[in-house]
Amino acid sequence: MHKSGWKCCKRAGRVRAVAEITLDRLAKVYPDGTRAVVGLDMEVADGEFVVFVGPSGCGKTSALRMIAGLEEITEGTVTIGGEVVNELPPKNRDVAMVFQNYALYPHMSVFDNMGFALKMRGFERGEIARRVNDAAKALGLVEVLRKRPRTLSGGQRQRVAMGRAIVREPQAFLMDEPLSNLDAKLRVQMRAEIARIQRSLGTTTIYVTHDQSEAMTLGDRVAVMRRGELQQLDPPQRLYEEPVNLFVAEFIGSPAMNLVEAVLAWENGAARVRFGEHELPLDAETLTRRPGLASYDGRRLALGIRPEDLGDAALEGVPEDRRIPVTIDLREDMGAEVFLHFGVDATAVETEDVKEAQEDDVAQGLRFIARVARESRAREGERIDLSIDTRRLRFFDLETGQAIL
Ligand SMILES: Nc1ncnc2c1ncn2[C@@H]1O[C@H](COP(=O)(O)OP(=O)(O)OP(=O)(O)O)[C@@H](O)[C@H]1O
Ligand SMILES: [Mg+2]
Repeated sequence: MHKSGWKCCKRAGRVRAVAEITLDRLAKVYPDGTRAVVGLDMEVADGEFVVFVGPSGCGKTSALRMIAGLEEITEGTVTIGGEVVNELPPKNRDVAMVFQNYALYPHMSVFDNMGFALKMRGFERGEIARRVNDAAKALGLVEVLRKRPRTLSGGQRQRVAMGRAIVREPQAFLMDEPLSNLDAKLRVQMRAEIARIQRSLGTTTIYVTHDQSEAMTLGDRVAVMRRGELQQLDPPQRLYEEPVNLFVAEFIGSPAMNLVEAVLAWENGAARVRFGEHELPLDAETLTRRPGLASYDGRRLALGIRPEDLGDAALEGVPEDRRIPVTIDLREDMGAEVFLHFGVDATAVETEDVKEAQEDDVAQGLRFIARVARESRAREGERIDLSIDTRRLRFFDLETGQAIL
């Protein structure tokens, strides 16, 4: 059954094709001149779950549709399972798409909705029944197989849409914001479900979303895109710990990384970083780990502080020089933790990339957020000391936006 050139592997007792997906200098220019995707290079390993994430219009859907064969490729190649598929029509690419707007056939039962594509492809009834029943078990749809879509809940309908993709046993799943029509709670449930099903099937998956928390929880690796260009492709933890530039730093993480213009001053081999009225020493460890900082003596740069690297100093025994005095202007009790908002009298980092990465257009000015332990007694209007984990500070070049390493 397998096309020549495919390798096979055995998983869960079933023989299936090894389906790595390779994008080589992939580009999309629409007829009106819009450059939606620019020089996209990427290898998605067999069985891997890769998420494309980025703000609206960054080219996620365009990239996915070129892989699926729904959009003509302007430049570059798409290779699936070792075969260049540029010229193959979608139905011959052996990939299954799941969209946000999945239209189920209203007059067909759930069973027929799920089995329809197989029927059209001439599968035998027995095989269709086997596949639909297997998928229904995995998706918790066994009880509703005879029902019509309109009698189902939103979550169940989304599951049927997933089921239609699963029964095809494709080489890869391509999903474009499949959960964005669901309410927040259901979305979190369904994303856990998608992760579980993908792991058990081991099918290569590319998933598109603009929601960074969805990307971080689902992806083995996450591809952050901006203006058609790949910024960084890394496992979630690495993306969070070592963002390669200001855009990724601002886009990944919620609440976002606090960013401020700062000046670095070196003296006798030690360095201090100054922003507004505050000044902090940099650890020898930080300086060894980021030798690039040596060339920033006396220069302005962007300083990044993750909210959780700030603490309520009253709860911790931190040295005097690792604290900053701030006035709390908002306290948000989140249950497990507390967000403390405060202003910093310094220059905000408002480069184009940072603005684009911000979730809303509201100019944030220089509002910082500290994510502190729920035991904190800090009150609004109060002046308190916050501790800073100086080992975890991040630095970026203001001109290029690149992380200083
Ligand atoms: N058919 C088209 N013709 C011209 N321009 C298009 C077309 N489709 C998309 N674009 C443009 O290409 C760019 C990328 O669009 P795309 O839909 O791929 O982005 P996206 O990341 O999926 O965005 P969203 O998060 O809003 O879905 C945008 O500037 C968009 O306006
Ligand atoms: Mg899109």
